[in-house]
Amino acid sequence: MLPLKKPLALYIHWPFCLSKCPYCDFNSHVRESIDIDLWKKALLADLQSFAAHTENFKVSSIFFGGGTPSLMPPPLVESLLKAIAAQYTLSSHVEITLEANPTSVEIDNFQALSSAGINRLSLGVQSLNAKDLKFLGRTHSLEDALRAIHISDQFFKRRSFDLIYTLPGQSIDMWQTELEKALGLAGDHLSLYQLTIEQGTPFYLAHHRGDFQMASEDISDTFFEWTHGFMKDRGYPAYEVSNFAKPGQECQHNKHYWFYDDYIGIGPGAHSRLTIDGKKHALRRHRSPEEWLKIVEDRGNGMHKDVIIEGHTLVEEYLMMRMRLVEGFSLEAFLEKTGQNLFDCIPEQRFRALETEGLLTINNTITPTFSGLKKLNALLGFLLKEKI
Ligand SMILES: C[S@@+](CC[C@H](N)C(=O)[O-])C[C@H]1O[C@@H](n2cnc3c(N)ncnc32)[C@H](O)[C@@H]1O
Ligand code: SF4
Repeated sequence: MLPLKKPLALYIHWPFCLSKCPYCDFNSHVRESIDIDLWKKALLADLQSFAAHTENFKVSSIFFGGGTPSLMPPPLVESLLKAIAAQYTLSSHVEITLEANPTSVEIDNFQALSSAGINRLSLGVQSLNAKDLKFLGRTHSLEDALRAIHISDQFFKRRSFDLIYTLPGQSIDMWQTELEKALGLAGDHLSLYQLTIEQGTPFYLAHHRGDFQMASEDISDTFFEWTHGFMKDRGYPAYEVSNFAKPGQECQHNKHYWFYDDYIGIGPGAHSRLTIDGKKHALRRHRSPEEWLKIVEDRGNGMHKDVIIEGHTLVEEYLMMRMRLVEGFSLEAFLEKTGQNLFDCIPEQRFRALETEGLLTINNTITPTFSGLKKLNALLGFLLKEKI
């Protein structure tokens, strides 16, 4: 009997945006013109370059992320999906998500993107009030956002939108009003991110100059806690730190990352975790769009780095991914993915200490509590504080 094919998630990075938002440190760039034919050839070549190592996989999800992939011409999206279908077996319920910004150029593409095969849309709404959209430097208006939500509902069975909260000056009352409105417009999934200030962004400078003040840690914790409680009461429990869904409607692609299953990424800066000959490889594509394009033209793939993940790094990566999930992980799952026993890698006392602090629970499963999720970085820092 042929061995069962393992599920694989496939990520495609489109690194271009119409303008750069002041809070964003994603690999996204503004360019006056883009040679679509060249990009098509290069993305197809980067995809093909994985063929030798992925024949035992079937694709369970595809994600077009960015940047702003809703700016990709729909025929390009279609060509990539056709190439993926030719190269891989697709699972029968393959989830195909595309991130979109709610500007009019992109809204006009929704129908064609749906015909090309996209079956899940993730809309970057960011805020449902005009003042905060302006503060966030978004180019879309509230009306654009509402129109995009309305139109996406006609073309995509599954849809989600992103909002950013804990904004300077925002109160829980203001956030509740916004979230009530959001739930009235939502599909089965919402991503709610607390604003973070990333180094190297215009917000970083503005914040240091004192142009605005961020919420204190206590206020930020209150927002987090309140949001998780509110969403649970409304039938959208969190399944991850920032992701909320009606049961069964979680984003399969992101869950795949958090389960630490294999995935490949093509396009500038894209990451992969791929098991080759029994070893987990961390592959990274060149980050700069122009450099990536040139390297693919020269060599047929955009590879920048290939590092084998083993020992402590494997344990570290596994925990960093799995602890984001509300459901936690079992000791068996840890053994299966890392080949090691958890308490041989990290002293059990550390987990017990965190349990006493109320940050996680330990049965046969290690599960972060609500407070644990909120303090995830500190919790991981404590668990992983020194090499084993
Ligand atoms: C790849 S990005 C953006 C996708 C799309 N281009 C857009 O802007 O709508 C995914 C999401 O990360 C969130 N995000 C990016 N930077 C953030 C920050 N500094 N703080 C909080 N959320 C952030 C935004 O909600 C954004 O929609
Ligand atoms: S938030 Fe989205 S639209 Fe804004 S710069 Fe980042 S990727 Fe581009």
